[in-house]
Amino acid sequence: MFISFEGIDGSGKSTQARLLADFLRNQGHDVILTREPGGSAGAEEIRALVLEGDPDRWSAETELLLFTAARRDHLEKTIRPALKAGQIVICDRFADSTRVYQGTTRGDLLERVNALHAAMIGVEPDITILVDINPNVGLSRAKSRQTAEERFEDFGVEMQIKMRSAFLDLAAHAPRFVVIEGAQSIDDVASDIAKAILPRLVAAEGPHA
Ligand code: ADP
Ligand code: TYD
Repeated sequence: MFISFEGIDGSGKSTQARLLADFLRNQGHDVILTREPGGSAGAEEIRALVLEGDPDRWSAETELLLFTAARRDHLEKTIRPALKAGQIVICDRFADSTRVYQGTTRGDLLERVNALHAAMIGVEPDITILVDINPNVGLSRAKSRQTAEERFEDFGVEMQIKMRSAFLDLAAHAPRFVVIEGAQSIDDVASDIAKAILPRLVAAEGPHA
């Protein structure tokens, strides 16, 4: 099973992806927790290129190529081998982030994003957890982290508002999405996510002999 986490910056994805991985491991599942951009040695190198520096360092078109190159490496080296070995893959961001950031809000490139995805990636998660949050709350949480990876956060709150609505629009059109209210305590968000995942996991595993 392939589970992705999506949402705007600071929505709580990384926190919740880690908690879900711990929860499923405690239930006896073999889980790999990974992230994008990154998740393989080559893709982590591309991560530093795209997430650090001036907001106008790359155009949306160049970003699309860099994120897709990183995703292809991540898929080849990490995701496909793990799924083949029967592991549950939990990924902090995947292709929906490209649809929203490069396809919809940074540029008007959705057709090209989808064409490149079909040609070079061709995989969708089984379940996508969208952690939804007010962009002001998300941005203030993200900004309190103090890292060098602030290129996207530096586009400001207007951009985060557009991104939130683009994520909700994707979620309304694909049944693999589960939308979770992110403005709750960390434990309450985790509990909503576990409640959404467990029945799907049981259904995917099928009846036991
Ligand atoms: P994302 O991966 O979506 O950017 P993170 O999980 O890194 O978000 O969380 C961003 C910041 O907000 C972190 O400092 C984290 O500890 C904090 N945080 C995460 N979830 C919550 C929550 N439900 N309530 C309050 N703070 C939170
Ligand atoms: P991430 O480290 O998950 O940021 P955050 O913890 O702030 O949510 O992702 C880094 C940034 O990269 C984030 O602002 C979204 C952006 N991004 C894209 O623009 N396109 C993509 O395809 C991906 C995977 C991420």
